[in-house]
Amino acid sequence: MPKKRFIGGIAWVVAMLAGCGAATASPATRAPLPSEPTMINYVDPSVVHGLTIRTLSTGERGGRRMHASYPAVAGAPRLTDRLRDTVEDELHRFTWRKTPGDTAVAPEFNVDWLLAAASEEVLGVRLRVGRSMDAGWRESRTTLWYDRTDRRVLDSAGLIRDDAAMTTLVRLVGQEMTRRGTPVRLGSLRLDPLRLDPAMFDSLVFNPRGDLVVEFDDGQVGSRATGRVAVAVPSAVSEPLLSPTGLRARRAVVSSARPSGTSEQDMLDASTDKPPARSSRAGEVDCARARCVALTYDDGPGPGTGRLLDVLGRYGARATFFPLGSGASARPDLLRRMRDEGHLVANHTWSHRDLTMLTTLMVTSQLDRAQHAIAQAIGQAPTLMRPPYGGLDGRVADVAGGLGMSVVRWNVNADDREDPAPRAIAERVVARTGPGSIVLMHDVHDATVDAAPEILRRLTEAGYTFVTVPELYGRRAMRPGWIYDSGAAATSPERLSASYPGAMSP
Ligand code: NI
Repeated sequence: MPKKRFIGGIAWVVAMLAGCGAATASPATRAPLPSEPTMINYVDPSVVHGLTIRTLSTGERGGRRMHASYPAVAGAPRLTDRLRDTVEDELHRFTWRKTPGDTAVAPEFNVDWLLAAASEEVLGVRLRVGRSMDAGWRESRTTLWYDRTDRRVLDSAGLIRDDAAMTTLVRLVGQEMTRRGTPVRLGSLRLDPLRLDPAMFDSLVFNPRGDLVVEFDDGQVGSRATGRVAVAVPSAVSEPLLSPTGLRARRAVVSSARPSGTSEQDMLDASTDKPPARSSRAGEVDCARARCVALTYDDGPGPGTGRLLDVLGRYGARATFFPLGSGASARPDLLRRMRDEGHLVANHTWSHRDLTMLTTLMVTSQLDRAQHAIAQAIGQAPTLMRPPYGGLDGRVADVAGGLGMSVVRWNVNADDREDPAPRAIAERVVARTGPGSIVLMHDVHDATVDAAPEILRRLTEAGYTFVTVPELYGRRAMRPGWIYDSGAAATSPERLSASYPGAMSP
């Protein structure tokens, strides 16, 4: 944790954090905050009416692993369009780059987002775009603002009053960089920090106290290995620089700041020490006698998830859902519906990173953060996880086991992204399914949702019963840390290292 320093009576802090740098809102009145000043404000997305998550790309294509999603807000179509265009641009830039020939690992692209502010007046969406290609993992941050009073989408610079105010902000931040000796670079060139390019100021956000936080991309200032570099400009200094939208944004942050983690009840609510998740209808079917199949849906919830639940309900079918933690926090209502309708909710990590490329601490964080969001939503803790891209090694299985989860893969792939015609998806699933199959699908694809009625009708005709994954094993309880590919195939962690030395391709 960096030390606070004082210049001319103003506390300045430059923080270099590898993490996402987000903090949940805390009371504005209670100062000083215990959190680090560049930890930015974060709003619970489930409070925003009409918010859904759109997934632009998920899965592996041409040896590249990509996951890109962004929020869509009903009533703010211009914001949704800009977010889509921004993510699309980044994705195209990534896909068009040449893969270095000698690389042993699959290049990866990942977009994670958070709400930096939300009120009747403004919305702020911060995108974190990460990519690995030739020089390791690198993240950039962009924050877009939407002013609901005049329905305009603004870049972060739109929070600043005018050019003169931007020049002042650039100078203040540059002075702090100089004081800290943080090098500012353009490619390999070292620049004078006092001449920072205003174009670098594309992620302006606030901490819960209302100080303006300026975030840089990895490698823009400092070295790439430094990770996130951000400067918090105290509100007394930054407030006079703000535009009308900037003032609305700051007001949204400060007024939404609420006490959290302050009572015993908050601590209980925040705990993941919840009863294990299970289907409310578990035990109805004996898969030793019945022809059972476990349909599984990853990466959601998406815009079509509610419709999928309607279809499953019509057939009395149950499924296992592997939502992302980020999606769970945005749409807890859909997770509660899954639970209430007899489905099983499991864990597909927070933001869909290839776990085999992460440190053990980061693997734990990806699983734990999602576990927390899901437990908050449904009051139960998932006992199953599925690694994004099927990327699994012994270490990942160990972490999952340590958190009380079994690893679930699949033996039937619907290939619902590769060939997304609903008829073709249904055809493949029906042709490939056998008793005890675990079928991989994605409820973020409309075509997959469209294929559901035919899949359910034809497999019902073939005598199948649709159960959740643990029911395939009946009384043979699934064990934490073990790997399950189908009703017939369970692998111990010890055998994993021998038979699956690395990531498996979905
Ligand atoms: Ni996935």
